Amino acid sequence: MVTVNTVNGNNYNILLAHIVCENMELIAEQIKELKEELNAIILAHNYQRCEIQEMADFVGDSLGLSQQAVEQDADVIVFCGVDFMAESAAILSPEKTVLLPVKEAHCAMSEMADAQSLREAKAKHPDAAVVCYVNSSAAVKAESDICCTSSNAVKVVNSLDADEILFVPDMNLGKYVSRFTDKKVITWDGYCPVHHQIAAEDILLAKYEHPNAEVLVHPECRAEVIDLADAALSTSGMLKYVKKSPSNEFIIGTENGMLCGLKANNPGKQFYFASPFAVCVNMKMITPTILLESMKQMKHVVMVHEDLREKAKLALDRMLAVV
Ligand code: 13P
Ligand code: SF4
Repeated sequence: MVTVNTVNGNNYNILLAHIVCENMELIAEQIKELKEELNAIILAHNYQRCEIQEMADFVGDSLGLSQQAVEQDADVIVFCGVDFMAESAAILSPEKTVLLPVKEAHCAMSEMADAQSLREAKAKHPDAAVVCYVNSSAAVKAESDICCTSSNAVKVVNSLDADEILFVPDMNLGKYVSRFTDKKVITWDGYCPVHHQIAAEDILLAKYEHPNAEVLVHPECRAEVIDLADAALSTSGMLKYVKKSPSNEFIIGTENGMLCGLKANNPGKQFYFASPFAVCVNMKMITPTILLESMKQMKHVVMVHEDLREKAKLALDRMLAVV
């Protein structure tokens, strides 16, 4: 208990911070109890708020989270991420109840492709195999031959017995993949607004300020940004790279939520984010209070129509068989 003797700002802030921390402990305790009661696990993406990552049973990239959704023996998956991630878990594990704590947590890129437009594109390229980035709706997955994530896109494309690939929806990832294959990659015109706004100038400036730093970017970045990087990696790929690297400084070209995992796993190493604007607001919607409410009220249950689910599952299963 803290007593406020004065009304000056400092004391007020100390009191507020204390209340928030006490609250956080209480929330974390209640979440732990509910997890046992519901036989639930919490999966969180690497871009989630630090407090959410700390409360999760598994934190990872899209591929790792999909694998966990299949492997974990739980009745309930509470998915702290965006819609397509929770939807993928529901597609892969229909016997589990999948909760997305904020139903408005959409991925802006996944909304740039729809099933009807994909059907039209398929009609224009009848010989192309359709590879959809996992950042897509169940309806788009159901129209695709196989899914991929940022960590396995090259492997997936090269595993296919087709000379032409229709790659949907991320044009930047599609162009990145085309560097590592002889196949013709036809790209969609979708992109991630968070990564697409990172400019080559941002990287050049950061390199000028930190000449000894290694540059790691996400393959959702523009080609000219990737050209300036030492490596283009998925979010978990970056975490692994930094852990192994002898370097002490890194320029990071991805969403800024990565800082939690990077700092926690690499004390003493320095991280400079290429752009202060690389924030995915939808990834930040889930707070500990919202997570607790979601578990108390069992909301929002992610539902995928069975016809769609079976077709979309084929595309996801084929991807999981490749990696
Ligand atoms: P990862 O699979 O690399 O975590 O990427 C997911 C994503 O949405 C990146 O913007
Ligand atoms: Fe989608 Fe981009 Fe946000 Fe990733 S960072 S969830 S691709 S909008």
